[in-house]
Amino acid sequence: MSRAVKFPRYGGTDVLQLVDVAEVNAGPGEVKVAVVTAGINSGEAAIRQGAMDSVYPAHFPEGQGSDFAGVVSEVGDGVNGIEVGDAVVGFSDGRNAQADYVVLAAERVIPKPHEISWDEAGGLYVAGTTAIACVTAVGVRPGDTVVIAGAAGGVGILTTQLAQHAGARVIATVGESNLDYFRELGVEPVLYGEGLRERIRELAPEGVDAFIDTHGEDNLRLAADLGVDPDRTNTIIDFSGAAEIGTKAKGMSTVDARQTLLELAARMARGEIELPVYASYPLEEVAAAYDRLAEGHGLGKIVLHVSEEPLSG
Ligand SMILES: NC(=O)c1ccc[n+]([C@@H]2O[C@H](COP(=O)([O-])OP(=O)(O)OC[C@H]3O[C@@H](n4cnc5c(N)ncnc54)[C@H](OP(=O)(O)O)[C@@H]3O)[C@@H](O)[C@H]2O)c1
Repeated sequence: MSRAVKFPRYGGTDVLQLVDVAEVNAGPGEVKVAVVTAGINSGEAAIRQGAMDSVYPAHFPEGQGSDFAGVVSEVGDGVNGIEVGDAVVGFSDGRNAQADYVVLAAERVIPKPHEISWDEAGGLYVAGTTAIACVTAVGVRPGDTVVIAGAAGGVGILTTQLAQHAGARVIATVGESNLDYFRELGVEPVLYGEGLRERIRELAPEGVDAFIDTHGEDNLRLAADLGVDPDRTNTIIDFSGAAEIGTKAKGMSTVDARQTLLELAARMARGEIELPVYASYPLEEVAAAYDRLAEGHGLGKIVLHVSEEPLSG
């Protein structure tokens, strides 16, 4: 038997349980991975609460988790290029990553560069693919002035660095506690909240070329007020606002996950991009981890520690 996070019905974090499940072997074309770290995302919380029932229904007892990193413990028939003991970054579509073991198609893991920490690797998939989708959607170019709303979140922090490395001037909307981090990164942080439009106008009197919204609320209206072309405005959360104003709403499903992760992992290994992790919890405290996420503030990601960090990898 091994452990997996499950929930027997829709509800708050109190429905999350760590249960014993029968171990499954890797079938043909599959690998089995002993999970070291697993990420958490607000989309999973929405599914667990039942808010996505019409589009992404749960099948009870439902499992949870897409992001993970771990060590390959079994390789199925027909799998080439992956060996037992390999450290990997995974991207599951089976709602099963918050568990001791994940069995999935071998194409859904990439090698984990040893320069990337287990925490960073475990939280990379959803935030990373979404960040690439955001910069691609608005076509960030050298010399652009780009506003990134919600820059301190998992998606925002990666998007910020991707836009910066694409040669853009980045104005990042953040809370008070994150101002210093973004200054040190070499971008221009600006406090979100009342007066944001004036603060951005003061920083960029010549105008803003592109706007990436990872937070929602009235950010799309702000982008329009700043005169940003709707075709160069993207949101990953305000879908009704996007329909109303005519902006883009391109999320993680618009990119090739494997190619994107390979690219991000290589760039992180070179030290070009980092993914801060502001909190970690043992797997058995999964409910506390989602309660912390729901507070809505922090720098980067929260990850679950599933097993001891291996000596190598
Ligand atoms: N469509 C897709 O494909 C897709 C994929 C992934 C995520 N999403 C959605 O995108 C959103 C962001 O995801 P995430 O994983 O990056 O979330 P997250 O890591 O939980 O981000 C929370 C961040 O929001 C910031 N924040 C709080 N209040 C704010 C405000 N008024 N203005 C600007 N920023 C504020 C906080 O920064 P401070 O600490 O500075 O306050 C915090 O760092 C979520 O709603 C998620 O569901 C969509």
